[in-house]
Amino acid sequence: MRLCSALLVCLAAALSSAFVISPPHMWTKLILTHHWPTTFCSMEHCHANISSWTLHGLWPDKGIACDPSWHFNSSEIEDLLPDMKKSWPDLLKPTSSEFWKYEWHKHGTCAAKAESLNSQHKYFGKALELYHKLDLDSILKKFDIVPSDKYYAFSQIEGVIENFYGVKPKIQCVHPSKNAFQILGQIEICFHSDFTLLDCEKEITMETFSKGGWDGPVGVDKVGGFSVCDHDMPVYYPPLKSNTYM
Ligand SMILES: *[C@@H]1O[C@H](CO)[C@@H](O)[C@H](O)[C@H]1NC(C)=O
Ligand SMILES: *[C@@H]1O[C@H](CO)[C@@H](O)[C@H](O)[C@H]1NC(C)=O
Repeated sequence: MRLCSALLVCLAAALSSAFVISPPHMWTKLILTHHWPTTFCSMEHCHANISSWTLHGLWPDKGIACDPSWHFNSSEIEDLLPDMKKSWPDLLKPTSSEFWKYEWHKHGTCAAKAESLNSQHKYFGKALELYHKLDLDSILKKFDIVPSDKYYAFSQIEGVIENFYGVKPKIQCVHPSKNAFQILGQIEICFHSDFTLLDCEKEITMETFSKGGWDGPVGVDKVGGFSVCDHDMPVYYPPLKSNTYM
């Protein structure tokens, strides 16, 4: 009897230490997702008058809605709100905080499993910090990738990002049916859990991401959604004014 309970204790200790070393639900990568408002709004029929890459989200590679009881509370990020409105706007409802609430529930509560992101202020603050540090919008401009009526080769866009940051991004496009071009929509840049850069192509396996469906409050899958850009098809990077190309 004694031996048996001692064994159980040992077994329990061994199991719990295994979990400490490798928590089963802990994420290891973060995906910082930017979207191009003109492309997004052409799909969603919104009218964002924004000509810069804005934040879509900061997504850990494991877990969805990890703590439904942890409610979004905008008072906790009050000091971040001016930057949130500018850098992470809700393109569908510009005056609401619904988008942030959605992203917090779906991704933030999972990111919060790490101590570095375990509050709303840390999570949103870090997303903004990474977004500004990358400064993707300026980098693209600096290397002459600008919204235009001409088409880009996919390798040109990918090359600029890869050369500058030294890691592979994941670039997503909209593929209008019957067209021989694709429309630039979303750019993901990935990080290790210590916030150093990481190749996105190191298999990010979550279904919702690999399928490329838009991760948003509405079912954009129904109208096509984003998928990884085709390497051989010309890329259209739509300027603000042309909202009627699709
Ligand atoms: C879009 O923004 C620009 C610059 O901020 C402004 O000049 C223009 O009037 C705006 N257009 C619309 C349709 O709101
Ligand atoms: C929201 O956060 C503020 C500041 O931390 C706090 O005072 C307030 O009680 C919270 N509201 C809710 C509904 O939890």
